[in-house]
Amino acid sequence: MDQEIDKWKKLMLTHKFALDEVNTKLNILNEEFQHIHRYNPIEHIKSRLKHQDGIIEKLKRKGYPLTSENARRYVRDIAGIRIICSFTSDIYHVLHMLSNQRDIRVVQVKDYIQQPKPNGYQSLHVMIEIPVFLTVSTEKTMVEVQIRTTAMDFWASLEHKLFYKFDGVIPTLFQKELKSAADTMTVLDQKMNAIKCEMDFMKRGGTFI
Ligand code: GTP
Ligand code: MG
Repeated sequence: MDQEIDKWKKLMLTHKFALDEVNTKLNILNEEFQHIHRYNPIEHIKSRLKHQDGIIEKLKRKGYPLTSENARRYVRDIAGIRIICSFTSDIYHVLHMLSNQRDIRVVQVKDYIQQPKPNGYQSLHVMIEIPVFLTVSTEKTMVEVQIRTTAMDFWASLEHKLFYKFDGVIPTLFQKELKSAADTMTVLDQKMNAIKCEMDFMKRGGTFI
C-alpha cells in the first residue's frame, strides 16, 4: 500500500516536472522568435496538473482499475498546457517549433480548427511525450498541449462554463446560438489573420495596387 502511495506521488511529480520542462521550452522558443522576428507568436501560456480526483474519475469512467500505472498509461491529460496565440497561423508555427525539439515526440495531433467539433469548438490538440530525467531513471511523460487563438479561447472558456460535460440535453436553440457564435469567432480570426498577412507583405517592402 505504501509502495502504491509512493508511486502516485512519483507520478504526480513526474508530470509536474514535464510541465516545467515544456513551459521552459516554450518560453525559450517564444523569446528567440521575438529576437529574430521582432514579434512573439505566443500571447500567454496556462498550465495545470490534473487533480488526483479527476484522474480517479477518468479511470473509473474508462473502466480501468485505479492504479498509478493505469493512470500513467490511460489518463493522457494529467499534465496539460494551453497556449494562446494571437493569430491562427501562429498556432501552426508553435506546433512546428515544438515538433522540431529533438527530445519531444509528437504522439497525436487533433486539428479541431480544420475540423471543428459539431458544437463549434476549435483548437489544435497535440499529445507530446517528453523525457523527464530523474536521479535514477528517465520517465517518458505525456503532456496534452492545446493551442488556440484568443478568440477560440474566449469561446471555449464561456462554452465550458455554460455546457461542457452538461449531463442533460442542450436545447437546439442554444446549440445553434453557440455554433453561430463560433462561426463569428472564425470570421474574426480569419479577418485578423488576413490583415497580418498583408502587413507582413508590406513590411517586406510589398505594395498594393
Ligand atoms: P476528455 O475526456 O475530456 O479529455 O476528452 P478526449 O479524450 O475525447 O479529448 P479531446 O481532445 O476531445 O478533449 C480534450 C480537452 O479539450 C478537454 O478536456 C477540454 O479541455 C477540451 N475540449 C474538448 N472539447 C471541448 C468542447 O466542446 N468545449 C470546450 N470548452 N472544451 C473542449
Ligand atoms: Mg481532458
